[in-house]
Amino acid sequence: MKKVITYGTYDLLHYGHVNLLQRAKELGDYLIVALSTDEFNWAEKQKKCYFPYEERKRLLEAIRYVDLVIPENAWAQKISDVKEFKVDTFVIGDDWEGKFDFLKEYCEVVYLPRTPEISTTQIKEDLKK
Ligand code: CTP
Repeated sequence: MKKVITYGTYDLLHYGHVNLLQRAKELGDYLIVALSTDEFNWAEKQKKCYFPYEERKRLLEAIRYVDLVIPENAWAQKISDVKEFKVDTFVIGDDWEGKFDFLKEYCEVVYLPRTPEISTTQIKEDLKK
């Protein structure tokens, strides 16, 4: 069984997220999403989530492409996650192009093109108008 892992915040779930998850799942048989915790988002990305972790997790678990959701608590956990879950492929949107090439020592690394014109940040901005 080929295992795939991806990381992200997935706040205000939108079709750009679903497109990413669908293509991620197509790269293997089992898709793990490491979901940024509220604390990690705030401390490391200066992002305040609209939906708390448990709600974002439930939304992801309701998506047919997602097999398992685990917490992302730290940037440094990727290598240990890859080893622990015996991951074959790490995948993420190309806004992160090149940033995780160090994982190539441990698994395949794939950057997928983002869906244009949609992001959680953009949704938040638009709703302010
Ligand atoms: N993603 C994508 N296409 C989009 C938006 C996101 O492929 N239009 C991907 C990202 O590249 C990442 C995953 O979805 O692999 C989760 O992204 P996340 O940062 O949680 O979503 P964004 O909408 O980009 O949120 P923000 O604006 O807060 O960065």
